Amino acid sequence: MDFKRYLITSALPYANGPIHIGHLAGGYLPADIYVRYLRAQKRDVKFISGSDEHGVPITIRAMREGITPQQVVDKYHEMMKDSFAKMGISFDIYSRTSSVTHRDTSQAFFSKLYNDGVFEEKESEQYYDEEHDVFLADRYIIGTCPVCGNPNAYGDQCERCGSTLSPEILINPHSALSHSKLVKKLTKHWYFPLNKYEDWLKEWIVEGKKNEWKPNVYGQCKSWLDSGLQPRAMTRDSNWGVPVPLPDAKGKVLYVWFDAPIGYISATKELTNQWADYWCKEDTKLVHFIGKDNIVFHCIIFPAMLKAHGGFVLPDNVPANEFLNIEGEKVSTSRNWAVWVHEYLEDFPEQQDLLRYVLCANAPETKDNDFTWKDFQDRVNGELVSIFGNFVNRAFVLMHKLCKGKVPRLHNELLTDRDKELIAAIGNAKTLVESNIENYKFRDGLFEVIDLARKGNKYLQDCAPWSLAKTPELQVENQMQIDNCLHICLQLTANLSILINPFLPFTAQKMIYMMKVVERMLDWENAGRMNLLNAGYPLRAPELLFRKIEDAEIALQVEKLKGRAIKPTQDVEPTPEKEVAALAETKPAAPAKDTITFDDFAKIDLRAGTILTAEKVEKADKLLKLTVDMGTEHRTIVSGIAMHFAPEDIVGKQVTVVANLAPRKMRGIESQGMILMAENAAGKLIFVSPAEHTDAGSEVK
Ligand code: MF3
Ligand code: ZN
Repeated sequence: MDFKRYLITSALPYANGPIHIGHLAGGYLPADIYVRYLRAQKRDVKFISGSDEHGVPITIRAMREGITPQQVVDKYHEMMKDSFAKMGISFDIYSRTSSVTHRDTSQAFFSKLYNDGVFEEKESEQYYDEEHDVFLADRYIIGTCPVCGNPNAYGDQCERCGSTLSPEILINPHSALSHSKLVKKLTKHWYFPLNKYEDWLKEWIVEGKKNEWKPNVYGQCKSWLDSGLQPRAMTRDSNWGVPVPLPDAKGKVLYVWFDAPIGYISATKELTNQWADYWCKEDTKLVHFIGKDNIVFHCIIFPAMLKAHGGFVLPDNVPANEFLNIEGEKVSTSRNWAVWVHEYLEDFPEQQDLLRYVLCANAPETKDNDFTWKDFQDRVNGELVSIFGNFVNRAFVLMHKLCKGKVPRLHNELLTDRDKELIAAIGNAKTLVESNIENYKFRDGLFEVIDLARKGNKYLQDCAPWSLAKTPELQVENQMQIDNCLHICLQLTANLSILINPFLPFTAQKMIYMMKVVERMLDWENAGRMNLLNAGYPLRAPELLFRKIEDAEIALQVEKLKGRAIKPTQDVEPTPEKEVAALAETKPAAPAKDTITFDDFAKIDLRAGTILTAEKVEKADKLLKLTVDMGTEHRTIVSGIAMHFAPEDIVGKQVTVVANLAPRKMRGIESQGMILMAENAAGKLIFVSPAEHTDAGSEVK
């Protein structure tokens, strides 16, 4: 398909905290690189984002700080907008979901679905905090875990033992806000019947996108689709959000994941009168850049909403990134384990491109990656400074020394194989960078640029123009060779500025200043040309493009990070970060636990067991009752996995059992052990099984 327009979005970040580098690496920097590349190609592109200002996390934050939700979002909206701008994230608009246009747009969207009879209306009993007058999402309910006895388990999950829970099975459930007891209240909501879109989604994704979408994205969608879609409430009881536009909906607002993605549409409306061209014409390429915790919303729920509404384009691609950890640990805003962008900007003024470089070079494109300050230093000093910066600097210095500060002319008749090889490499690099960016492989694209600079260094070393200048008896001939070498090096420098521009725009600007050329030279069509700088043209003295990072600076950053981090303890008050957790079954990463001794570990009796029977527990939709062969005995184990596995599918499976866990009654059944499960970020449970079949009862150690 030949696209006429590009509509590029970055997830709307929640306006309840500042931007950290994990945000940048996930959905902002890659989008910005892509957009800058498209603009350099002169393609018609709009780059959209804004603050997500609704949702429970914001109301909770306001309650805790004793201010209004509006005050919370006003503060963080400005802060986030500022950080993005300073980092050179070049949105065409950075809007916000508390805008009037957004309210109108999302209400009209809802009304259209309502009038078309799309929604199902359902009444249900929900937990209610009488002190605060609010209905509570599962994440905001705390109680004792029925599996391990942790007194601070969440209504959706126990962070101590990892069990998936529901508020119903918590012992003594109470509100995370007020610690008051909960009551149940009847409430009405409007559900979007995702189940009715399952077949269509399967066709669109499983058949249509399998080879186009990144494996991490496709895989998550596939597992959602395989486990079956349920109707999902699109309204909430709250006084903060977009009011539900129906007469009988007082105190109800649109679910934040209903209104937020519509924010992309509202922001485009605010940006241009031509917004409908971008959203409704089939030859628009819509691409959503996000982090992996947003996949289901952008690949399943929002597309189903758009489909139900009709008349909108669907995303062509959703190149979601995985997570960026910091110094080996998951980012946690509640633990203050993060590198904040506004602080980076203060500590490294005018050095945005260093961070852009490292975040792109180390981007979590296919798997979670780790940011460490040591790696930051190594990459800056070892790649940016000593390869790219060094080449450009040497070319300029030598040109001033050996060619009187002007671009020397090229003597075609003297071109050597070495010269021709480098010229070919320049053309080649253009093609490689292009195809990498078009395929969302930004790291590889960046490495091609660095590699080209590396070739430039090698070429300069091999030509050694400084030594040619030392033999005066061969002056004329040698000067021609010097001219050729530096002419080619300077054309290469001009090419490097074009190729690096999407990635490191501040650097490209410095380079065009040094070369005294106009912005237009950075147009992508100029890449690969060897006539970008005219012979005889005087260039400025070189400036250093990057500065080295000293050991002391790195030590300071590590100290700062560690010094203020809040130690993970088991009994902290829960600080919910994202409503996602409660509503999408997408779990925030569990914090790392404290170190234990070997003796602590040795107390746990872990054994391989084989599941003999499995059946649902009546009136407990999350529980399965299992009989497990432990070699010398059969045990009954109650496990909270019923939402994830059909009983018949797991019979015969080998699992790892905590064999000496104190027995516990659940729904009247004594559970004599616990089964180990891994849980991925999408909330999917995976058995921790021996890699090969082993005797039941084998010790795991
Ligand atoms: N606020 C969400 C988050 O930070 C992202 C919303 S993306 C949108 O996870 F599409 F809903 F806007
Ligand atoms: Zn537990």
